[in-house]
Amino acid sequence: MQMVDLINKKKYNQKLTAEEISFIVNGFTKGQIPDYQMSAFLMAVYFNDMDIEESTALALAMRDSGEVLDLTDIKGTKVDKHSTGGVGDKVSIVLAPLVAHLGAKLAKMSGRGLGHTGGTIDKLESIPGFKVVLPLDQFKNQVKEIGCAIVGQSGDIAPADKVMYALRDVTATVDSMPLIASSIMSKKLASGADAIVLDVKVGSGAFMKTLEDGEALSRIMVDIGKKAGKKVTAILTGMEEPLGHKIGNALEIYESVETLEGHGPEDLTQVVAVISGHLLKHAGVVKDYESGYKLSYDTLRNGGALETFYTFVKAQGGDVNFLKNKDQILTKTKTYEVKANVAGFLEKVDALNFGIAAMKLGAGRATKDDVINLFVGIDLHKKIGDEVKVGDTICTIYHEEKGLKEAVEIVNNSYVVGPHKIKLDLIKETIL
Ligand code: URA
Repeated sequence: MQMVDLINKKKYNQKLTAEEISFIVNGFTKGQIPDYQMSAFLMAVYFNDMDIEESTALALAMRDSGEVLDLTDIKGTKVDKHSTGGVGDKVSIVLAPLVAHLGAKLAKMSGRGLGHTGGTIDKLESIPGFKVVLPLDQFKNQVKEIGCAIVGQSGDIAPADKVMYALRDVTATVDSMPLIASSIMSKKLASGADAIVLDVKVGSGAFMKTLEDGEALSRIMVDIGKKAGKKVTAILTGMEEPLGHKIGNALEIYESVETLEGHGPEDLTQVVAVISGHLLKHAGVVKDYESGYKLSYDTLRNGGALETFYTFVKAQGGDVNFLKNKDQILTKTKTYEVKANVAGFLEKVDALNFGIAAMKLGAGRATKDDVINLFVGIDLHKKIGDEVKVGDTICTIYHEEKGLKEAVEIVNNSYVVGPHKIKLDLIKETIL
């Protein structure tokens, strides 16, 4: 087999076999196929697409390029979730103890933040002592005993994705549906769960800007997962405005605790309950999604999973007192209030720009090696549809001077107060 022939095949829009795709992925990961040939191939995929068989073969070849976790010694259905990334997305932190409390087993590998989106691992690291690297045995034992564990993604998971993504990033080939779907699914399939819920964010703060694109990506990912023998559901959720109120690592831990105590923001509580509802159904804890959703929502609202959260944090070395005294998080930095100068209703909060503003303050990374500040960020006091009076605080900026001027300017240009009371569609679609 010659790489040049396979590039030609894709260039002329012919279907590749699983063997051919595996040859490309293995050859590139081992350094036998040079960047220039892989770049040409990726661009041919960008223009000519891949069908579901090719996309599945690509995901499986990438999965098999590294370690595939074996979780079979944990009894029952192991569940996992993945978010395509948004602003203020602290869903995993609330979800893990919730599903564990309700009887499912969640074994999760998460990522760090890059650009305007935050990462679960950075957020958890704002809890003093919290360990995001655990030996595999300890990871599995924790899932067996407590019902959940969240660790950083091991470098051995889908190494093909790492090298392919780096090349896509510099060859303008990131935004290709089969490449995105196989990239995400290769890592999920390698993580060993039996059932996966994909939270595909749609809107200004998300990777997928339109519902159509979100649906197309979801369909491919669900089909790949099913062909690989997993139970998979995708939900499309709104990212027109940040999720919840708080953006920034420790601030998002604060809001996660609030949500587990029973008084979190309605949008965050709903998204967590929807994902939990599907996971509990896949795990056989409930008979249908509707009862899973109700059980999850009610448990969040009555604070039922809070103790499990403390147990989970403690098991990973985290300081539970930090969570019990969470108000101290709000006193670690200076604050600046952005006030409304017109009255009406909040019509728009551009999630992408709020994410960028938080990054400028130091909450996120512009490049992979940036050091972040765990305590800076933004607390939105208003959500879209809320009434605003002149002088009301739109948001509080938690800062250490760095990036403040820029962040204030971005924030001031990224919200709109007007006469319309808008109601956003939060849960847009479910793809089974
Ligand atoms: N997230 C991924 O993991 N891969 C992509 O290609 C895009 C987003």
